[in-house]
Amino acid sequence: MPASGLQTLHNDTILLGQDGWADGRLGDYQNSRVSLNDSCLIFDLFQAKILGKLQVLEKMQELADFDASQLENDLILAAKKKPKKVIVLTHVPPFAEACMHKGVMSDQNWLPYFSSKVMGDVLSKVATKNPSIEFLVLCGHTHSKAEYKPLDNLVVRAGNVEYSKPEVQQLIVL
Ligand SMILES: [Fe+2]
Repeated sequence: MPASGLQTLHNDTILLGQDGWADGRLGDYQNSRVSLNDSCLIFDLFQAKILGKLQVLEKMQELADFDASQLENDLILAAKKKPKKVIVLTHVPPFAEACMHKGVMSDQNWLPYFSSKVMGDVLSKVATKNPSIEFLVLCGHTHSKAEYKPLDNLVVRAGNVEYSKPEVQQLIVL
């Protein structure tokens, strides 16, 4: 989505998105003993991991904050067009309440790696300023179904999936 920019769909709907990164700001990063494959398999994070846990956090936040500022720019551009609805695609859930695992919200150990607070802050800010626009955020990362509605005009949905078995989560009719 960052490469293709804002896409105008039917019925006054705009589609946009940013990758998003977990930012370690929700949950208890310092005391968490979780180590995701992400910090071994993703080059940017692996380089930081060699240096230490604090460096990984700084790298996660640098990546997350950059994407969040890009998202904010795109959301502001979209809002200026006064659409009825904005659909946002991102990878990491932007709120703790959207980080489910086996029907329960992820705990303090996992939340730092499963959520992107900075993205949630940006989405809440723009949605609050634009109450006439409906914002639908679709995310993944946790592989567990979740729905959270922090504001009347902001809904976040995470999809349920197993590795190598992608599935349609819902049809959106515009
Ligand atoms: Fe992921």
